[in-house]
Amino acid sequence: MDGNGRWAKSRGLPRTAGHKKGADSLRTVLNACRDAGVQYLTIYAFSSENWKRPSDEISDLMQLLNHYLEKELDTLHENNVRLRFIGDLGQLDKDIRASIGEAMEKTARNTAFNLTVALSYGSRQEIVRAVRRIVEKGVAAQNITEETLAEALDTADLPEPDLLIRTGGEQRLSNFLLWQAAYTEFYFTPVLWPDFNTKHFTEALQDYAKRERRYGTTGE
Ligand code: IPE
Ligand code: MG
Repeated sequence: MDGNGRWAKSRGLPRTAGHKKGADSLRTVLNACRDAGVQYLTIYAFSSENWKRPSDEISDLMQLLNHYLEKELDTLHENNVRLRFIGDLGQLDKDIRASIGEAMEKTARNTAFNLTVALSYGSRQEIVRAVRRIVEKGVAAQNITEETLAEALDTADLPEPDLLIRTGGEQRLSNFLLWQAAYTEFYFTPVLWPDFNTKHFTEALQDYAKRERRYGTTGE
């Protein structure tokens, strides 16, 4: 969900205004997913590297998240949405951790849609945490398979993503789902996240529908 800052700057507004508008785009995309029959959406809300931003922007973002959770949790729950959070959640403030825990617990038995929020998330850090877990369990080297690692990641109970959309014009992964995106189709758009709407989302899905996923085979 990239481009909030630029969206705000081009209007002479503080960056936070872009983040606020971005929250509206998230509501739009969530509805568009459900209309299109998409069952899993994982959003990159705050990266491990975002901790390097000025502290007032970080606290604005965390407040916005808390606010969003407070405001939307009941609706998400009524819509049978299961909420998950992935990332190094231990780095977050106690109150945010509490709201996150509550949201995950409350929605744990929901089945219609899976919304996962990557928060304080970095894929390299996630892989390191996974390796530590495996070592701590004392798994013998010869017993380590791709499944062992996949099951030790934060995304253990999620399918691998089919499509990854990055808004805001940058064409890179920025430490998002490095392991999980091995066969994911990428879609980059210059549209800034606060401007991203149902039409843009549909265009991305239509583009994805034209792709041929060969997974390394000749496709015959
Ligand atoms: C993405 O927008 C939102 C977060 C990283 C939380 P940016 O804040 O990165 O916006 P730009 O890239 O500066 O426009
Ligand atoms: Mg950015």
